[in-house]
Amino acid sequence: MTTQAWIEVREVSKAYGAQPVLDRASLAIERGTLVAVIGRSGSGKSTLLRLIGGLEPADSGTVRVGGADLGAYSEAQRAAWRRRDLGFVFQFFNLLPTLTVVENVELPLALNAVAAPEARRRSHALLQELGVGSCAERFPEEISGGEQQRVAIARAVVHEPQLVLADEPTGNLDLETAGQVLALLRHTCESRGTTLVIATHSADVAAQATRVIGIRGGRIEEQTS
Ligand SMILES: Nc1ncnc2c1ncn2[C@@H]1O[C@H](COP(=O)(O)OP(=O)(O)OP(=O)(O)O)[C@@H](O)[C@H]1O
Ligand SMILES: [Mg+2]
Repeated sequence: MTTQAWIEVREVSKAYGAQPVLDRASLAIERGTLVAVIGRSGSGKSTLLRLIGGLEPADSGTVRVGGADLGAYSEAQRAAWRRRDLGFVFQFFNLLPTLTVVENVELPLALNAVAAPEARRRSHALLQELGVGSCAERFPEEISGGEQQRVAIARAVVHEPQLVLADEPTGNLDLETAGQVLALLRHTCESRGTTLVIATHSADVAAQATRVIGIRGGRIEEQTS
């Protein structure tokens, strides 16, 4: 009998028009690990994260997370899985402009039926931890890029999902803040056994990962230090 890894990407291909991005890429990730994904700009890091998170379908191949074949799910089942089990830090944040910072962070809790006062309390505490507590009542356009990044991280972890996919989560932060934010993200995930996959250009981030994988020519390559 073969034991299955928690995340199984098997022979996955993805192209946009004529351009192949992933070409029969395979990858297995153990639960609770921190995996860094590196590769040149345009190599397919964000694409891989979107496929693992069930935000986008593969052209062929399978993606399984926790035993579930995301491709075999209906859109409603995938949405339910994402709502409960996934936190996604988007490369360009995707904060909702008409909601305040704290309302953005509360959203995953509201969607998971956490009572409003409890949702507010937890969101404030997390914003505080990330050093952006004073931004809570402002709108995303009224805070800096680095502050938005931290709010996006808060929104991704507030509901304590099983899987966090973070796309360049420290890309807009100065070195010191990046170190603090990464430490917090790591600590949050480690203490809960959350699996964390981070796409990054940062050697500092990669150095803290359990494992570093690269994408090149549409294939996934294990990086050895
Ligand atoms: N929706 C889309 N439509 C067409 N092409 C796309 C789309 N999304 C991504 N691509 C192309 O797929 C390739 C991989 O993009 P992706 O965003 O995954 O790269 P990346 O490794 O995350 O790059 P970066 O380091 O710049 O964030 C790029 O050439 C990109 O232009
Ligand atoms: Mg990207």
